[in-house]
Amino acid sequence: MAVDVILGLQWGDEGKGKIVDYLADKYDLVCRFQGGPNAGHTIIIGENKYVLHTIPSGIFRQNITNVIGNGVVIDPTTMVRELNNLDKEGIEYRSRLFVSRKAHLILPTHRYIDAASESAKGKEKIGSTLKGIGPTYMDKTGRNGLRVGDIETPDFRAKYDALKVKHMEFIKLYPEIDFDLEQEEQKWFESIEIIKQLNFTNGEYLVNKAIKEGKKILAEGAQGSMLDIDFGTYPFVTSSNTISAGVCNGLGIAPSQIGEVIGIVKAYCTRVGSGPFPTQLDDADGEKLRAVGHEFGATTGRPRRCGWIDIPQLLYTIMLSGVTQVVITKLDVLDDFENIGVGLNYNVHGEITNELPFDINIDGLVPEYISHKGWKESLDQVTSIDQLPSNAKDYLDALEKYLGVPISMVSTGPERRKLLSRK
Ligand code: GDP
Ligand code: IMO
Ligand code: MG
Repeated sequence: MAVDVILGLQWGDEGKGKIVDYLADKYDLVCRFQGGPNAGHTIIIGENKYVLHTIPSGIFRQNITNVIGNGVVIDPTTMVRELNNLDKEGIEYRSRLFVSRKAHLILPTHRYIDAASESAKGKEKIGSTLKGIGPTYMDKTGRNGLRVGDIETPDFRAKYDALKVKHMEFIKLYPEIDFDLEQEEQKWFESIEIIKQLNFTNGEYLVNKAIKEGKKILAEGAQGSMLDIDFGTYPFVTSSNTISAGVCNGLGIAPSQIGEVIGIVKAYCTRVGSGPFPTQLDDADGEKLRAVGHEFGATTGRPRRCGWIDIPQLLYTIMLSGVTQVVITKLDVLDDFENIGVGLNYNVHGEITNELPFDINIDGLVPEYISHKGWKESLDQVTSIDQLPSNAKDYLDALEKYLGVPISMVSTGPERRKLLSRK
C-alpha cells in the first residue's frame, strides 16, 4: 500500500497545505488528485508565506516529484501566476513538476459561465470561488472538455474555438454580466505557451511505475469532505469527489494501493460560501474565532463563517473515507476561550442522533453541545505534546474518544515547526 492520503474532513481550509508540506519530507511523490484553483493552501516557511492553488504542496521540498493528476482542473492563467511566484523565490520546479495530459483545462468562458450562473442565482448562490470549477467539470462529464494533452495537438485552437462557440450560446441563457473575455483570452493563450514548457505526462503510468519501484506517495486533497459532489451539503458543494475515493480516479490507481488516510480537522469549524453549517456561531465567540484564527479565504479573501467542532459531521466524513488517523490543527486559536463547545449530537425534530439526515439544512435540526474547559494560556512555547496544558490534553483525549480514530499530530501555529507528534 503505497499511497497515503491527506484530506480535509470539514468544509475546507483545515490546514491541509501546512500538513502536506510538513509530511512531504517522508515521501517521494506528492500528487493533487481533484479540485483546481478554488483551493488555497497556505504554507509558511520562515518569514515567507506561500499560497498554492494548483501546484502540490510538496513543491518546497527538494527532490520530491510533484504531480497534478487527471482529476484536477487547471486554469493556465492562475497556474502561471503560481509558477512566477516560485520563480521569484528561486524555487526550482521544472524537473520536479509533472502535469497529467488527462487533466481538464479551465477556459476563460468557464469562468464567465460560473460568474453568470452565480449572479443569476441571486440569494440562492453557492458562493463559488468563481474559478470556473463547476462549468469545467460539467464539460468533463458532458464529454465536451479540453484536456492538457489537447494542447499538444495541431488543431488545439480549432478545438478551443468550437467549445467557445458552445459556451457563448450557453451564456445567452443568463442575464448579462461584466466580463472582459478578450483580455482574459489573451492572457490564457499567453499562459498556454508557458504551460507547454512543463512536463506533460501520462500520469496514471507515472504514478503506477512509482508504486512498482517502491516509492512512497502522498495524495493531497483539496476542499473538504463536506464539499464532496456526492456526499457534501448538495447543492452547496464543489464539483469533484473530495473523499478518499477521489484519489483512485483522480490519479489512476487501484483502491488496494491506498494506505494511511490522514484526516485534517480544525480544532473548531469554518465554512466559506453558502450552505448549511449546523454548529455556526453568530455571536462573540464566532467573531473571536474569526479574528484569532485569521479566518479569511486564502483564495477569495472572504470572511469564513466560524463555529464549534461538529462530531456527527466528522463521524460521517471519517466513515466515508476510511480515515485511519486525524491531525488536529489550529489548537492555539482556542488559547483564550473560557469554554470550548463541541457539537456532540443532532436533535432532529426531537430525536437525538449522530447520523446526518438527507438534508442538514432543515429548521428542525439543532446540535446538542457539551462544553470543555479552556486552558487560558498560550501554546506558543509548547514543543512537545507533554507540555500541553492539562485542559488542552483533555480536549484532545475527548475528541479522540468521540471520533474513534487516533489523533496522531496536533498543530499549534501556522509555521512548519509548530507540529506536535502524539503517536
Ligand atoms: P488548506 O486550504 O486546508 O490548506 O488551509 P488554508 O491555507 O486555506 O487555511 C489554513 C490557515 O490556517 C492558513 O492561513 C494557515 O497558515 C493557518 N494555519 C495552519 N495551521 C495552523 C495552526 O495550527 N495554527 C494557526 N494559528 N494557524 C494555522
Ligand atoms: P481548500 O482546498 C474552502 C467552496 C466555495 C463554495 C463551494 C463551491 O483551500 O480547502 P467552487 O469554487 O468549487 O465552485 O465553490 O465550495 N470551496 C472552498 N471552501 N476551501 C476550499 O478549498 C474551497 N474550494 C471551494 O467557497 O462554497
Ligand atoms: Mg484553503
